[in-house]
Amino acid sequence: MERSILTVVSNAPAAALRGDYTRTRPDHTIEQDWSAYTPAEHALWRKLYDRQMRLVPQYACEEFPHTLDRLDASGGIPRFGEISRKLRRATGWELVAVPGLIPDLAFFEHLANRRFPVTGWLRRPEEAEYIVEPDIFHDFFGHVPLLFDPVYADYMAAYGEGGLKAARLGSLEHLARLYWYTVEFGLMRTPEGLRAYGAGLLSSAGEILYAAESAEPRRVKFDLERLLRTEYRIDRFQDTYFVIDGFEQLIGDTAPDFAPVYERIRGLPAMAPDEATWDDVAVRRPAARPQ
Ligand code: PHE
Ligand code: CO
Repeated sequence: MERSILTVVSNAPAAALRGDYTRTRPDHTIEQDWSAYTPAEHALWRKLYDRQMRLVPQYACEEFPHTLDRLDASGGIPRFGEISRKLRRATGWELVAVPGLIPDLAFFEHLANRRFPVTGWLRRPEEAEYIVEPDIFHDFFGHVPLLFDPVYADYMAAYGEGGLKAARLGSLEHLARLYWYTVEFGLMRTPEGLRAYGAGLLSSAGEILYAAESAEPRRVKFDLERLLRTEYRIDRFQDTYFVIDGFEQLIGDTAPDFAPVYERIRGLPAMAPDEATWDDVAVRRPAARPQ
């Protein structure tokens, strides 16, 4: 499980973060320094990659493996320059390396300009199962493939713009929840069952299964206002997942001006991560598939 960029940044001093911030440029990016990765790190990358690839056919949304094919990143830690060339041609996005979490506004500014910040460092071997801060494996494997999808790519850029606007309106706390419950932990309903499109699920061996199949968590149909009011936990599997029907729905439902929505919910109490409300539309798991 990973903490999101948006939760930690504003109150975490750089010194508490793990990356090396000494060579950061004014836009908070760094040089990737690909030659500094060790053979052991490339080997750990392959191990993490292979592990997730075993889960992807059954649990990832169909857009995900489709775009993964074009990345050719199974052999070792990829070079961002090469990926950016392909990405620019596909959807106009590129990757920038960052030392780790960066300030909210800098993050939104990058997204709005179709630059996706990817952490430079890889987790340690003993963190294969669990990591607190996002590392290069989470950022790359979880987020980058879907940036090749044109609709998703537009959503991410719109989110960046939306972030700058939410900051002006004092509504970052609400908007951060949208990132969390879609970009990080979003589920999609498909004819084949519930599938993950959130990066926190796609890069996690345990939670992708839990989100799609466990009887424990609450799954509700995507509802913007309900979602913006729902708090989340950063240190355990989610209590509630919001389910979309596809990226077209997501981009359509988030296109309207959020200013009146922020205004309306400003006075309303937040909902706890595991709270239900009478008008939730529950999404049931499909019956277990025969083995
Ligand atoms: N429509 C949103 C607004 O007016 C912008 C946005 C789009 C935010 C997509 C998030 C995701 O603020
Ligand atoms: Co992430």
